[in-house]
Amino acid sequence: MNFEESKVRAAKAALSEVHDGFVVGLGTGSTVKHFARMLGDEVRRGLRVKVVPTSYHSVEMAVDNALDLLPLEAVEAIDVVVDGADEVDRDLNMIKGRGAALAREKVVASMARRRVYIVGEDKLVEKLCSTKPIPIEVLPFAYRYVMKKVEEMGGSPKLRRAGELKDGPIVTDNGNFIVDAFFKPLDNPRSLEAEIKALPGVVEVGLFCGVADVVYVGRSSGVVPLAKHK
Ligand code: 5RP
Repeated sequence: MNFEESKVRAAKAALSEVHDGFVVGLGTGSTVKHFARMLGDEVRRGLRVKVVPTSYHSVEMAVDNALDLLPLEAVEAIDVVVDGADEVDRDLNMIKGRGAALAREKVVASMARRRVYIVGEDKLVEKLCSTKPIPIEVLPFAYRYVMKKVEEMGGSPKLRRAGELKDGPIVTDNGNFIVDAFFKPLDNPRSLEAEIKALPGVVEVGLFCGVADVVYVGRSSGVVPLAKHK
């Protein structure tokens, strides 16, 4: 299967969630990049929307596609957020934060009336943590403490490093570090989300449980919308 094509299909399906006059939360990542381009095309055809970014990456995508930006600080409500995800389980719980934007992504999602996620089918898993670690945004001075606590919870934490692009750890848009926590496939992601979030020094955890209203899954044969159980 062509992964890029599946992302394009999912992004296209999410366009049906956007209506004239909407304030749209714009997620982060390569799948949202397709959505931003398509939204830009619709705006050129006359659709009126404003977008609230979830990262500097989404600011860039908005600027590149001539989308009107609203700072998060200036909005009281968001009509719909469209964002990507790293893993999605059958209850629509998700891991997010590969792009290190989880903190702002969660705030924007919690302000949105409707929460739409777009993924290729390679992101679907039986249980979260099957293929990806949980990104945790931490205050820099607390990273060793948080890593020790994650180990006590049974996880294997790793400080995310910038690799060739910078010496030392990566620094998020908010000036923090990311600890990637590897766990065995999770039976109860909701309780782990609460447990990690409660650690002093943790800014946000990349488990998004009970957040998604719908996940559009791009497949080679088309798109499948997975909706939240009512
Ligand atoms: C960034 C994210 C992204 O939405 C997530 O990593 C999906 O990205 P992509 O669409 O490139 O696979 O959570 O923090």
